Amino acid sequence: MTEPRLIKFDKIGSEEDGFISVANYKKEVPFPINRVYWTYNTNDKINRGNHSHKCLQQVIVAVYGEIRIKFLDKKLKEYVFTLNDPSIGVVVPPGFWRELEFTNNAVLLCLASHEYDELDYIRDFNSFKNG
Ligand code: TYD
Repeated sequence: MTEPRLIKFDKIGSEEDGFISVANYKKEVPFPINRVYWTYNTNDKINRGNHSHKCLQQVIVAVYGEIRIKFLDKKLKEYVFTLNDPSIGVVVPPGFWRELEFTNNAVLLCLASHEYDELDYIRDFNSFKNG
């Protein structure tokens, strides 16, 4: 199984004018993107996630603020990332439990491989661990 890993997006622009980053299928994103969603108005230190996906692949970017993400595999090996740079994303393969902590009014952008399907979620940690 592949592991969660960071990817770097091109950063086009200047300190003065600001930057554009671009997520291209194949170049940075290893799956065709079928859905994009974002979370916002997250209170400081709020925790989200607490689930895994059976099939869904994602790229997650903190486009504003800072998001700490802990992924766990079924053997409880941890993969911890601090996202606080909009030119960096994390590629999330299927099958990893995730716990996210939002700070500094962080805005999360997610590029997802499939449309929303609640049946793709595992929301019970014991089911995840033993599945
Ligand atoms: P969830 O994926 O659990 O978000 P988080 O891990 O950030 O808390 O989704 C939260 C709620 O939003 C849940 O009721 C499902 C709903 N939802 C959709 O209806 N469509 C979507 O594409 C997503 C991502 C969530």
